[in-house]
Amino acid sequence: MAIIMDGNGRWAKHKGLDRSEGHRKGVDSVRKVVEAAVKAKVKWLTIYAFSTENWMRPDDEVDALMELMVLAVASETPQLVRQGVRLTMIGDTNRLPKDTQDSIKRCMDATKDGENLNLVVAISYSSRWELSEITKAICSDVEKGTISVDNIDDKTISNYLTKRSVPDVDLLIRTGGEVRISNFLLLHAAYAELCFTEC
Ligand code: FPP
Repeated sequence: MAIIMDGNGRWAKHKGLDRSEGHRKGVDSVRKVVEAAVKAKVKWLTIYAFSTENWMRPDDEVDALMELMVLAVASETPQLVRQGVRLTMIGDTNRLPKDTQDSIKRCMDATKDGENLNLVVAISYSSRWELSEITKAICSDVEKGTISVDNIDDKTISNYLTKRSVPDVDLLIRTGGEVRISNFLLLHAAYAELCFTEC
């Protein structure tokens, strides 16, 4: 499963609150979704926490989101461990502030033995960025001679994606009322069922 968590800002504005309050409430929603996914025995859940396009938001919103992720990851780690959740990340992690990288790394280390649910947080992620990374990896393997150009087909791409990213998505949910995929897991969702909720 994969979820585009959208609508935080509009939810907050609607209630006369600052957008950052919407993101804080978003963390509560992530917690509920993770609990539900574990109960439903979902094996892979990828959530879109921050897109490459989100870097264009005002600096104070980006800073607040990065800080929120540091706090959320730290405070949720014990609960993730208890639930057998393994946290990993996809995205251009080098762009993240050091304390955000460090706190995610700490959570990944603490949860590495979790066997119930693979929770993948997509941060500084976009499918087009990922596709350029996969292309570089394939080209490098061609240069090394481990694969030949003639043998590259859609399975090759799938294998590289699964190895470096997440498996194919069966169900993709977007909250917040917008009906688009916004550069999220485009190739993984080739056969996914799509669910857009107003909520
Ligand atoms: C989209 O709402 C949401 C985001 C850009 C950020 C979501 C991230 C979190 C809630 C932090 C999660 C933390 C962890 C550790 C997983 P929006 O701002 O685009 O809302 P809008 O469409 O109403 O403007």
